[in-house]
Order: sequence, then C-alpha cells, then structure tokens
Amino acid sequence: MSARILVAYASKKGSTAEIAHAVARELENRGITVVVAEMNSVTTLETYDALVLRTPMYAGKFLADVPAFIAKHRECIIHIPTAGFVTGIARVYPKAGDPDVIAGALGEAMAPAKPVAVTMFAGKFDPGNQGFLVRSVGKMMKIPEGDFRDWDAISAWARELPGKMGM
Ligand SMILES: Cc1cc2nc3c(=O)[nH]c(=O)nc-3n(C[C@H](O)[C@H](O)[C@H](O)COP(=O)(O)O)c2cc1C
Repeated sequence: MSARILVAYASKKGSTAEIAHAVARELENRGITVVVAEMNSVTTLETYDALVLRTPMYAGKFLADVPAFIAKHRECIIHIPTAGFVTGIARVYPKAGDPDVIAGALGEAMAPAKPVAVTMFAGKFDPGNQGFLVRSVGKMMKIPEGDFRDWDAISAWARELPGKMGM
C-alpha cells in the first residue's frame, strides 16, 4: 500500500491553498497518496503516515492556530514525520521579517513534533482582492504587489520531503 500524506493548510485568499495542491501533485508523482485539507476540517490523523502543515502570515502572525492543531492531534503527530511551511511577503519585503526566523518559529510552534523540514516561501499580495483599509496600508507601507510564488522552489522542496521523511 502506498504511503499516505496529509497536507493540512490554512488560507485566507487562496494562494497558500494553491501551493498546498502544487506540493501534493509533486508528492503524488512519487507514488504517494496525498490528501489536501483545510486545517480546521481535519478530524483525525490516524490514517496518515506523515503530515505537511502550511500557513500564511498575517500581521506578523501565523494565520493558522498551529499549537491548537498540534495539541488536537498530538497523539498521532508524535508518531509520524512532519514538515511545515509558511507563506508571506517577507521573502520579498524584508521589513516583514527574516524568513528564516519565521520558518524557525513555525518549527517551534509545531512542538512536540520535530519537523524534518520547515521553510518560508514568498506568497501573493493582490490589493485587488483586499478591502480599502488593507489597500491603503499596503500603499502606505510600499508593500510589493504581485504573485511572488516560486513554483520551482516549491516543487524542489516537495520533491525532497519523501526522502527526509524516510519514505
Ligand atoms: C492584511 C495582510 C497582512 C499581511 N501580513 C504579512 C506579514 O506580517 N508577513 C508576511 O510575510 N506576509 C504578510 N502578508 C502577505 C500574505 O501572507 C500573503 O499574501 C499570503 O500569500 C496570503 O496567503 P493566502 O492567500 O493563502 O491567504 C499579509 C497580507 C495581508 C493582505
């Protein structure tokens, strides 16, 4: 039977969800069965051999309540390999923080899981799908506008996961 990985994500505007599906495709190409699910809809991890968790940053915080998710599924999570990644504009807008520090914070938020890989990828900031306030703040703070997702980097990261997870 092929290994089963759950890709659990949080997303407000969809860009992180699209990345979750891109990672899933990459893992499926390696013969792994992948289920992609919104984090809050996950009821059990019992049927999975590994977990990939992902969340975007909003106002300096993870959108997902990562510790709550980990606590809810603690009994399963401590027995399976995990990985995580965060999306945001910090990769292209240094004022939003150091991407490596942010990725490290995700790893800490996942304790007692010990993720085999954590990283931060550039996300997408489209003022066109934001309200007036966010658009104004974005302009004021000169936040770069556009889709900064690096699909090659995302695929490369996903390709390495099965090896790191011992699959
Ligand atoms: C109101 C707002 C606040 C944000 N705050 C941050 C932030 O603090 N750090 C960061 O790196 N990115 C930040 N971003 C960028 C988002 O993380 C990025 O747009 C991400 O791709 C959104 O993911 P989603 O489409 O899955 O919701 C912010 C975006 C918005 C609209």
